[in-house]
Amino acid sequence: MPLAMPDGWDRVDSDDLSEVLGFAVRTFAPRLTLASSFGLEDVALIHALSECSDAPRIFALDTGRLPEETYDCAERITSRYGVRIDWYFPRTEAVEELERAKGLYSFRASVENRKECCGIRKVEPLGRALTDMDAWLTGQRREQSVTRLALNVLEPDGAHGGIWKFNPLANWTLDDVWSYVKKYDIPYNRLHDQGYPSIGCSPCTRAIQPGEDQRAGRWWWEEPEHKECGLHQRKESVQ
Ligand code: ADX
Ligand code: SF4
Repeated sequence: MPLAMPDGWDRVDSDDLSEVLGFAVRTFAPRLTLASSFGLEDVALIHALSECSDAPRIFALDTGRLPEETYDCAERITSRYGVRIDWYFPRTEAVEELERAKGLYSFRASVENRKECCGIRKVEPLGRALTDMDAWLTGQRREQSVTRLALNVLEPDGAHGGIWKFNPLANWTLDDVWSYVKKYDIPYNRLHDQGYPSIGCSPCTRAIQPGEDQRAGRWWWEEPEHKECGLHQRKESVQ
């Protein structure tokens, strides 16, 4: 059955970042959390959220395969904003079992294997990060990929028990995000200056060439329609 939108959402200008975040905080905090991979969108959101919340909740999924530059960015963000990051790790036994059975690069062999690895390292820990939450915030944008064309600024997240999911930058372009990050001198991942517009795990991310799609460097051996790791499954409709 379709969910009704939360009270007051119809009075929010969904193109106004601080209005959207203000509504999210008023309506859902402290059961509201921001998912950060420390990509450009996420550092912009951390800056904006810090402006409207004294103690924003922020979590990050440490898959065990993140690039060094991502940890470095996380530390610079932490000291600039004085925020705490709730890090989540995959279950040790599941990673041990996977690596013993299939080696360290099983994800290159098939989409199925890749989803298995993302399932263990990202999707299962995400479920734990969202336990007891009523809403979460992500840095997804429509422009990023064919799989995100129908993204809304606020949508129900049927994959996590019908909680709410805010994608406040859904309508932003990459240039919009860069302007915002430069305007406020927000610390960002140094890989962005080396041809990486989108950054995930180290062995599954590479720099793009001029003219290539923004996510061409993610799982570059797969077709664009497969390039989702399972963090963002879309299931429910809204009234
Ligand atoms: S992914 O699904 O392909 O990995 P992408 O890298 O585009 O996603 O990031 C989209 C959003 O998902 C980020 O803005 C962030 O909100 C969330 N996200 C992605 N990876 C992580 C992570 N490792 N930890 C926490 N949130 C993440
Ligand atoms: Fe595994 Fe690659 Fe997915 Fe990271 S992005 S969890 S290394 S398949």
